[in-house]
Amino acid sequence: MDHKKKTAAEKAAEYVEDGMVVGLGTGSTAYYSIKKLGEMVANGLFIKAVTTSHATEKLAGSLNIPMFSVDEVAGIDLLIDGVDEIDKNFNAIKGGGGALFREKLIARLSKRIIWIMDDSKYVDALGGFPLPVEILPFGHTHTLKKLHRMALNPSLRLKDEEPFITDNGNYIIDLHLQKPVAAEELIRKLDSVTGVLEHGLFLNMCERIIIGKNEGVEVLENKAFIPK
Ligand code: A5P
Repeated sequence: MDHKKKTAAEKAAEYVEDGMVVGLGTGSTAYYSIKKLGEMVANGLFIKAVTTSHATEKLAGSLNIPMFSVDEVAGIDLLIDGVDEIDKNFNAIKGGGGALFREKLIARLSKRIIWIMDDSKYVDALGGFPLPVEILPFGHTHTLKKLHRMALNPSLRLKDEEPFITDNGNYIIDLHLQKPVAAEELIRKLDSVTGVLEHGLFLNMCERIIIGKNEGVEVLENKAFIPK
């Protein structure tokens, strides 16, 4: 059991209110918030959940959390999800588990977002963690070459020596970048590559972050956050 992830995740569950449409994140930190919400649902909380991956859908289903597809809801009241890295400006890298496309789509639909993490994820500058990028399998060798030519140090993510396949049937390329990442410029570059579907940079999207520490949690509010 990871104590820091668990305490941050359980703290985030306190922000969930009866009747909310809740986005359920993916990964080992989100796992604990989903387990907690499962307990809360068993004790009478009513929520409509929207999931960010097949793995989360399976977990939420096993806990009898009522689930809806993203196309069945008009919007999402609150998303709780993990990150791979986040800086003091609330800019994050996500997608270590390969779920970044659905996570980004759900995040964009969410009125409020809480990112949860252990204290190792809160960094002075982004770039220590490779930036995941979801790409179309069609023409992927050319997409990979293009990213090489842009000096972005790409590597195709593999699983059992085959390309890792996302829930959307696509591939992931990880970019091994220099710290600090020039995020805006990088996004412009990635947006110009036709085979790139989405990247794992989530810039200033959250209302707050909750950091699990040895002793308790730290909640940091994003003063620049404007609710949708
Ligand atoms: C899934 O693709 C990711 O974006 C996760 O949200 C992120 O990698 C955090 O995962 P952990 O909580 O497992 O570190």
